[in-house]
Amino acid sequence: MRRIEIVDGVVRRPVKEWTPTIQALLAHLYGRGLPVPEPLGYDEQLEYVRLLDGDAGQDAWPHQASLGGVRSAGELLRAIHDATRDWQPPADAVWSVPHQGGPVICHGDPQPANFAWQGGRAVGLFDWDAARPGEPLDDIAYGLIWLTPFTADRSELARRGLTAAPDRRARADAFLDGYGWTEPFDLTEAAVTRHKLAIDEVVWLGERGHQPHAGWVADGWPSRWRDGLPAMRALGAELVRP
Ligand SMILES: Nc1ncnc2c1ncn2[C@@H]1O[C@H](COP(=O)(O)OP(=O)(O)O)[C@@H](O)[C@H]1O
Ligand SMILES: [Mg+2]
Repeated sequence: MRRIEIVDGVVRRPVKEWTPTIQALLAHLYGRGLPVPEPLGYDEQLEYVRLLDGDAGQDAWPHQASLGGVRSAGELLRAIHDATRDWQPPADAVWSVPHQGGPVICHGDPQPANFAWQGGRAVGLFDWDAARPGEPLDDIAYGLIWLTPFTADRSELARRGLTAAPDRRARADAFLDGYGWTEPFDLTEAAVTRHKLAIDEVVWLGERGHQPHAGWVADGWPSRWRDGLPAMRALGAELVRP
């Protein structure tokens, strides 16, 4: 069975211990008018949320190829973070991963494929299972991994509608400008640290039998991802301002 099914405009997802918390978060954001899936409840097996309009998943890539697309993702992430600042999670809140807490609720996986896009702009954000309280920079660093992007693999860049030599500095700046982030920080260090955490979280979830993480662990992906960290760090040279 597919992990996620879409039937008549409703997304069906496997229910998890953290589903009630995520549905409460979505109710708050949706109620504030943010473009996140409307939460439609859950039963013993499935969680239900409304499908967002726009291109998502594999269809997201052409939209994020332009600087305007990258900037719009930053703008949307900022609007969503801001709307979580005054939200009080349920007293018995459960999140999918251990966390350090922080002033916002991070999405946890803000990569292009988890945004809905229209006309080269990010118009929605879904796939909230990895959400957790955190610092804005946790999600910003995660977004930077994907939008800068921190990969030099030609076929991977081509798949994302990018040339072999994307202007990484301009793309990172567009995302940060869109977000409205002005404090200087070491982008590469932040991205590498966040990527390491993402790998550790896959292992953590996999060890607890959650899918697709357990499958990735069984197939040896975490060590391959860790092998890619030095190449990611090397790309940081392109981000140093002259
Ligand atoms: N609420 C939603 N709105 C629009 N598309 C969605 C939504 N939820 C899921 N999808 C589609 O289903 C795909 C898989 O769902 P997603 O929640 O991203 O799970 P995963 O990344 O774990 O496969 C997405 O790439 C997207 O195409
Ligand atoms: Mg997804």
